[in-house]
Parts: sequence; C-alpha cells; structure tokens
Amino acid sequence: MRRVSSAITPIISVNRRAQKPLHRQIYEAYRAVIVGGMLRPGQRVPSTRGLAVELGISRIPVLSAYAQLLAEGYFESRVGAGTAVSVSLPDQPVLPVSRELYTSASRRSIGPFAKRSLLPDSLERAPWQRGWGAFAVGQVDFDQFPFSVWNSLVTRHCRSMGSSYLDYGSPMGLKELRSAIATYLRTSRGVRCEDEQIMIVSGSQQALDICARVLLESGSRVWMEEPGYRFARSVFALNRCRVVPVPVDQEGLNVAVGIKRCRDARAVLVTPSHQYPLGFTMSASRRLQLLDWADRSRSWILEDDYDSDYRYENLPISSLQGLDRNARVVYIGTFSKVLFPSLRLGYLVLPRELVERFRAVRVGMDIGPATFHQAVLADFIREGHFSRHIRRMRSLYRERRNLLLGSLRAEFGSSLEVTGEQAGMHLCVVFQGINDRETAQNAALTNLWLVPLSSSYAGKVSQRGFILGFGSTRVEEMASAVRKLRSTLGSVAVQKLR
Ligand SMILES: Cc1ncc(COP(=O)(O)O)c(C=O)c1O
Repeated sequence: MRRVSSAITPIISVNRRAQKPLHRQIYEAYRAVIVGGMLRPGQRVPSTRGLAVELGISRIPVLSAYAQLLAEGYFESRVGAGTAVSVSLPDQPVLPVSRELYTSASRRSIGPFAKRSLLPDSLERAPWQRGWGAFAVGQVDFDQFPFSVWNSLVTRHCRSMGSSYLDYGSPMGLKELRSAIATYLRTSRGVRCEDEQIMIVSGSQQALDICARVLLESGSRVWMEEPGYRFARSVFALNRCRVVPVPVDQEGLNVAVGIKRCRDARAVLVTPSHQYPLGFTMSASRRLQLLDWADRSRSWILEDDYDSDYRYENLPISSLQGLDRNARVVYIGTFSKVLFPSLRLGYLVLPRELVERFRAVRVGMDIGPATFHQAVLADFIREGHFSRHIRRMRSLYRERRNLLLGSLRAEFGSSLEVTGEQAGMHLCVVFQGINDRETAQNAALTNLWLVPLSSSYAGKVSQRGFILGFGSTRVEEMASAVRKLRSTLGSVAVQKLR
C-alpha cells in the first residue's frame, strides 16, 4: 500500500459554540472522512500540535480525539513516522452513502456540455497507439537521450535558481531560449526571423490552438491535408472551424484542388518539408502557388515543421516561411521529436504584425510558459548539445530506416509502394484493398504497432496501408518485425504486389 509522505490537513471544522465537545467534533469529523474514503489507509495525518494550531484551539481536545481514534483502530502511530490512517482499513470507502451519491449522479445525465467538447473524432488512443516498440509512430529512442548532459544542466539551474525563475515570465517565453531558437532556425531551416518574433508554446498542439484563437472565427474554413494529422483536426474542431480536406500527391498539397473546393478558406495547415503521413516534400511550384493564393485571398498559412531536422539524402529543406514576402506564414516547430514529447516545448515564428495580438491572447490563455525547462533548453542549445544530439540521432535513425527499407524489399519485393522515407522517423507502405484498421488491431495483439493509413483521412479513404515508425524500433528486431508484418498480412496482400 502506498504511503503518502506529507500530512495534508483534512477539511475538518469545529464549532467552539456548539454544545458538542471539541474532542468529539474532531473525532467524528475524522471518522466521517475516513469512512467516506476522503482519507485513505496509510495517509498521514497532521501532528496534534499542528492540527491544534490550524484549528485555533488548544491541543488537549485534539490529543483526546486522536487517542480515541487510535483506540478504535482508525489511526495507527509508528515511532518516527507520526500518525496515519490505519493500513488495516479497507482501501475503498465503506459508507454506502457515498456510493449511492455517485451512482445517483451518474444515473442522472450530467451536463449540459459545450457542443465543441463533443469532438467529431475521438482522441482516445486507438489499439495500435497503445504500445511501445516495433513500428510505433512518433516514438523517439529515449535510451539515446543525453541524460547526463541534461541532468547536469538541470542541476546547474536548480543551484542558480533566483527570483526571476519564480515570478511570472514573459508571455512570449524566455528571452535566452527565443534567441537560441531564432539563431538555429535562421541557420538550419532558412527561416527569416528575429528573436522578437518567436513565441514559446507547449508544443505544436498549443501553437495551433493560439493560431486558431487569433486568426480564425467560429465557422472559418481551413484547408487541411488529406490524409493529414488527426490531432490538428481536433484543434480546429474545438475552435469551431470547418475543415476542408485537400488531397495530397507527390508534390504535396494540391493547391488547385483547394482553390476549387474553397477559394476563400481563412487558413491552411501544411507540412511542406515532410508531409504527414505520406512524407512527400512540397515542390517549389506548389509552394509558390500556395503563397500566391494566401496573398490574394488574405489567408494564413500555418506551416507545421515537426520532424525535418532528420533528413537522410540531402540537407534539410528550406522552410516555406523563408519564401514568404507578404507575412502570410506562421511557422510552427516542436521539440517533441528532436528531444522528447513530455518536455512540452515548441515555438511559433510570427509575422511581426501579429506579435502583439498573439501576446494578448496568450495572456488570456495560460499567461505564459513555465520558466525552468526553458532555461535548461536554452543552455542545451547554446552549448552545442542540441546540434550534437541531432547529428547523432540522424545517423542512428538513418541506419534504422535503411534496415527497414531493406527488410521490406526482402519480404515484399521491389513493387511495394513506399513513401516518405527521405526524412523523419516514419515511412508509409501502401497496400491497396486491405482492411488496414482490422489488420492493425490484430497486429497490436502481437506487439506490432501499425498505424492504418486510413485513420489519417477525414473524408473518403483513397489509400490504405500503414504508417511505420522506426524511431523506437531496434536494429536487432527490425528484420523479425518486418517478417511478422508479412505474416500478419497473410499471402493476399503479398500476392497483390507481385
Ligand atoms: C504532424 C505533426 N505535427 C506535430 C507533432 C508534434 O506535436 P506536439 O509538438 O504537440 O507534441 C506531431 C507529433 O506526432 C506530428 O505528427
């Protein structure tokens, strides 16, 4: 049984004017919260002295109430460990009253809810997203993270932590981190920016949410790549925007189709460096078409550059933002793939004209980002650990990708359609005509984590197959994982390829 180490004072009140003696009031209050399940077995209770001070009474009635509770077995005390609720009591509430309360509440329907909370597509994890290892998409190899460097920076900042760490920070984020990011983006991603244009956010998801709040109205239409990033759709749904799916081909988002479907969309979300999930790079002509459309229709381009630090054949592709001359592009980046997702740090690069509006909305949302890990990350980048880490991971992921490609060819032959293998930590394999969802569901039972391509479509599914992550698939298990994939698919899919 888990012991809660700190003694939190339970909500106990006493009435000095009541006829009932104080010790009895304290005794009954404790008994009620224990029996009602608010205080659990093993949980420490305050010292008699501490409780007397909190209640503003003398210690004598508290001593007598504690003695009674000890005698009746509600409390136990151990030398050096203080007084706690007796571990021999049942873990669940014993009073039927509270159970009835819960069930009667759930029988009545609780509500009303805002319509936006009833998301069109549930964000519940699908069976194929629940595991760790072979082919899981979006997973980073955590074992390779430079823990010792990170830990030493954390320790350094803990030691030097002054009052500036404790006060509210800037809604735009820590100056040092914004500056380190701006330098990095100008140098390696061709982003045209100064420090003042960077806003630190808690990942791409929050970046999109702020964009929607500042740039879009309820009912605004937004182009999204089809297939595309499912989690982004929910941000637009929560902001009551209407998503217009626009198909993707080898050149990226098909701008002409977008214009045909909805010329006056207020915004578009694109992943031009490595389209999610198909992995195509947006061609130069499509980039120029998109910028031209945005300029003419006064629409916003939200550029999600989530994993393009890992490019295997050539240098990272320059950003779309770098080509923009009319301040229509908002660039979104994240540390989820290059470092680790629980860090919840990402950034926006805003056109100068938007900075004040974003700042004001941000204050109304969460006031600003937490300071501590921003300071650690700023040093991690400035001292060169970040670029070293990217270089090391790029070569490690390249090896995994090559192995995956080789194993896929060996098992399925050269006619297997593979897309998006030039960058990132996933690629796509197309198996038309199969039920990819059912296959992924079955594969998950054997620890094979295939994301069905069809799950990335908002509308009609035009391609089926799987998104295969190789970030957390170990070199030694790659070949056997591909063999397992082949046996999961059975001979039907393989014959179709030959
Ligand atoms: C297309 C795309 N954008 C962004 C992200 C990262 O999101 P976040 O920064 O919120 O962790 C992911 C993560 O899987 C992604 O696939």
